[in-house]
Amino acid sequence: MWTSVRLALLVLAAALAINYVEPLPALLNRLWVHAQAIELPDILAATGPPRAESSASLNPTITSTVSSSPAPVAQSDAPQHVFTSSSKRASFRRRLVAVGDLHGDFPNAQRVLKMAKVIDDRGVWSGETDVFVQTGDIVDRGPDTLILYEMMEKLRGQALQAGGQVTSTLGNHEVMNAIGDWRYVSQQEIQTFGGVASRQAMLAKGWVGRAWKQNYTVAARVPLHPSAGIVNADYEPSSTASALSHAALAVCHGGFAPTYPELAPFPSRINELGATLLARLQDQRPQPRPHPPAPYPGLPQGTTPQEQRLYGEDGPLWYRGWAHNPDDFVCRTVDEVLHRLGTRRMIMGHTPDFEKIVSRCGGKIVIIDTGISRAYGGAISALEIVYTLEPVEGEEEDAWTEREILTALYESGPVLLADDTRVIRGDFSA
Ligand SMILES: *[C@@H]1O[C@H](CO)[C@@H](O)[C@H](O)[C@H]1NC(C)=O
Repeated sequence: MWTSVRLALLVLAAALAINYVEPLPALLNRLWVHAQAIELPDILAATGPPRAESSASLNPTITSTVSSSPAPVAQSDAPQHVFTSSSKRASFRRRLVAVGDLHGDFPNAQRVLKMAKVIDDRGVWSGETDVFVQTGDIVDRGPDTLILYEMMEKLRGQALQAGGQVTSTLGNHEVMNAIGDWRYVSQQEIQTFGGVASRQAMLAKGWVGRAWKQNYTVAARVPLHPSAGIVNADYEPSSTASALSHAALAVCHGGFAPTYPELAPFPSRINELGATLLARLQDQRPQPRPHPPAPYPGLPQGTTPQEQRLYGEDGPLWYRGWAHNPDDFVCRTVDEVLHRLGTRRMIMGHTPDFEKIVSRCGGKIVIIDTGISRAYGGAISALEIVYTLEPVEGEEEDAWTEREILTALYESGPVLLADDTRVIRGDFSA
């Protein structure tokens, strides 16, 4: 009995020590969220989910049957061609899932992540996805802000342990909240933070604000193949000699406008501006009184013209041109932008179609906001991309079949958006 009381006190003291920068209501909320967020004990979550043998990690999967034990010493009459050229070439597979605006709805977020096999029935990273991308607008229009950000950080950690990755981009609504533009925040949601002051402190310097700062970017470059580097490695225009120089996705909340002047180097230029703007907002002391009822505070004094443009109409947080402009225009202009970004496709949220994921120009543009939150009642949807690179058997050593299958996943079943196959040449044994 006394042991457990002492243990509880110790845990509370430790939690207070770790979280001393947070206001108490926020801390209590965080502890509450910890108790609620994911149905699995932390101990189990920390060791990572069991990884299915068949699931691809971020490392290439060897499908050829090369023995890992030393080759037996060949008898004089034994065949000498044990290692054929094709036995050295490894197939590669990567499964990516992207989900759009979640807007304060934890139950629907769980539904969509389970459907897309990002999490399992217990709410834990399933190991069946290599990269999970979320394109922002987690906050606003619903009450589950805290529990959703908590879920994202838990999944991020679980993914890393399983050899996967979670990539998050900020939406215009995250930045609106950092500005103090709280037009889409409900009183009920503010109470989950313990009031206005606690919410301001949480978004500026609490764990939510720190997560935005550390683990969210405005733009992301997500590689389909390791040749394109790690997540958010800059595109090197000098790499175009490789057939895989553009084997990546460009991701942001709104869109990469052809007119936007900060597209290169991609994505670091945009992300530098995003980081300095966010820091400027979070460092304001005191935080401006939120709007409403206070007047719209706007961007802080000292915000640079480049940071203003980032948050402007043709900036990556707000742009809607890829969703709204007519086909002939977008399909005429998209290639040039993709070429500059060093990617094959661009994936965006922000502009909802409540029925379906919108794929344009053969899947070069994919808009994944379907109004998943019950605030909209749109389709529960996720975009799945399965990328494979397989050696062409019986061909010269450098021929590979590259395939990208894009599928919109719905509760009513999958819908094929694109299936692109081509043969490329080069040394991609990774
Ligand atoms: C950011 O993600 C890493 C990896 O999961 C994690 O260790 C870190 O705590 C996260 N940062 C915040 C502020 O949540």
